[in-house]
Amino acid sequence: MKLRRDASFGFLLLLCFCWEVCAIGPEDLERNPAVQRFRTYLRIPTVQPEPDYAQAIEYLTGQAKELGLPTKIFEFVPKKPILLMTWKGSSKEKLQSVILNSHMDVVEVEEDKWKYPPFEAHMDEEGNIYARGSQDMKVVGMMYLEAIRILKAEGWAPVRDIHVLWVPDEEVAGIDGWGKFYSSKEFEELNAAIVLDEGHISYNNTYIVNNGEKAMWWLVIQGTGETGHGSIYFDNSASENMFKSLASINAFRDSQVALVSSGERLPEEVVVVNSVYLKSGSPTPEGYTMNIQPSVVEAGFDVRVPPVEGLGPFLTKRIAEEWAPKSRNMTFYFKVKTETQTGEIPITTADDTNPWWYLLRTAVSKFNATLSPQIANGASDSRYARMGGVNALGITTIQNVPFLIHSHNEVMNGYEFLKGINVTTEIVRLYGSFSGSPQTSRSVL
Ligand SMILES: *[C@@H]1O[C@H](CO)[C@@H](O)[C@H](O)[C@H]1NC(C)=O
Ligand SMILES: *[C@@H]1O[C@H](CO)[C@@H](O)[C@H](O)[C@H]1NC(C)=O
Ligand SMILES: *[C@@H]1O[C@H](CO)[C@@H](O)[C@H](O)[C@H]1NC(C)=O
Ligand SMILES: *[C@@H]1O[C@H](CO)[C@@H](O)[C@H](O)[C@H]1NC(C)=O
Ligand SMILES: [Zn+2]
Repeated sequence: MKLRRDASFGFLLLLCFCWEVCAIGPEDLERNPAVQRFRTYLRIPTVQPEPDYAQAIEYLTGQAKELGLPTKIFEFVPKKPILLMTWKGSSKEKLQSVILNSHMDVVEVEEDKWKYPPFEAHMDEEGNIYARGSQDMKVVGMMYLEAIRILKAEGWAPVRDIHVLWVPDEEVAGIDGWGKFYSSKEFEELNAAIVLDEGHISYNNTYIVNNGEKAMWWLVIQGTGETGHGSIYFDNSASENMFKSLASINAFRDSQVALVSSGERLPEEVVVVNSVYLKSGSPTPEGYTMNIQPSVVEAGFDVRVPPVEGLGPFLTKRIAEEWAPKSRNMTFYFKVKTETQTGEIPITTADDTNPWWYLLRTAVSKFNATLSPQIANGASDSRYARMGGVNALGITTIQNVPFLIHSHNEVMNGYEFLKGINVTTEIVRLYGSFSGSPQTSRSVL
């Protein structure tokens, strides 16, 4: 039960005790419409492997209507909708547009490991909102919309088009989302100069900005060989051939680990190779036959390749000659390989020669913050934009929350969310006001 306080008394209390220190209390956070909208979005279970995109699209379309933004839905793959909201720019010239991108899906949860149900968006006394997607990346999408709401209320309008894009399936490599979109005429028609996308949580006044990422090579190696009795030695069994591959891969992996542990390289500068599955044997209802040497073996690896000149060709050669050589009856293919046709891994220029970097830096400087570019270890939809020749910068304007992306008890603080909205507002304002002619992304290769 709550006591109704006299308004002026409340005002006095606020003035005397809470000046600056608690301009917003937990109750205000509970009533704050931006926080309410954020929590509503968090409650929509767009969780892999069966995200409820229909419900998300319905909610977001309603938001667009409130904001007076026309919408379009693209469905390159059935049940995988892409929602586009557009704020038309005032310029008569054909200025390139700004895309504010966020993915709607979130990763799976192990519900019993959570303090609160992951799709309830429970908020505690300190304003911590527990929900899957509260960091990755529903918070970012909601900050875009709140920024637009603030700018519209101010009567501000952009000179170039600002698009807010809501995409499916980023968490499953984006194949049916951005993977289809970036080479489409619909994307080309947006004539984008810059895509803003998700970044890292920052711990202080320095925002980590992802201006590139490692290429993702999902490598499958297969070997065949003579089959035979488990009791005898013979040469060139499939397993023997695979053991040689594993030894070679492990030696390479150790060399990369050593570079990081010696401090010679940063984690984002080395190739990552991790074994993700090993498959072989003759299955029986109880397990495997124990006296047959199998004729086929297969192994899967998650390989991440930094955008360093010459590294791609070097690795390709090594795979063909040492990890899966024909001479050992081995073959390989990539389930996914994220790079351009020519093997380039484009990055976006992260210095003031790129006006989008300069504007981003200027916007956050109003909040006494700076930027630090970083090649992301993981993959995001930004790579598709870069492959399409467009600048992409990944920034999540959130500070001071523990980094819990893809972890149990993912959480966002309501106050930090409100602060983040203000920062995003300045970014959108500067991007939307910029009338210069920008460059596109540049590849280091
Ligand atoms: C900010 O945090 C990062 C870690 O993300 C750290 O490397 C950096 O030194 C910190 N900067 C300051 C000014 O504390
Ligand atoms: C490759 O396969 C052929 C045909 O099964 C076999 O004769 C040969 O010994 C195998 N070589 C190796 C290195 O496994
Ligand atoms: C600005 O940031 C620096 C470094 O984080 C900090 O030392 C300083 O106190 C901040 N100034 C203001 C006015 O917030
Ligand atoms: C956001 O900006 C507005 C307008 O400047 C200000 O009144 C408000 O206190 C800011 N919110 C936060 C959480 O910093
Ligand atoms: Zn994400």
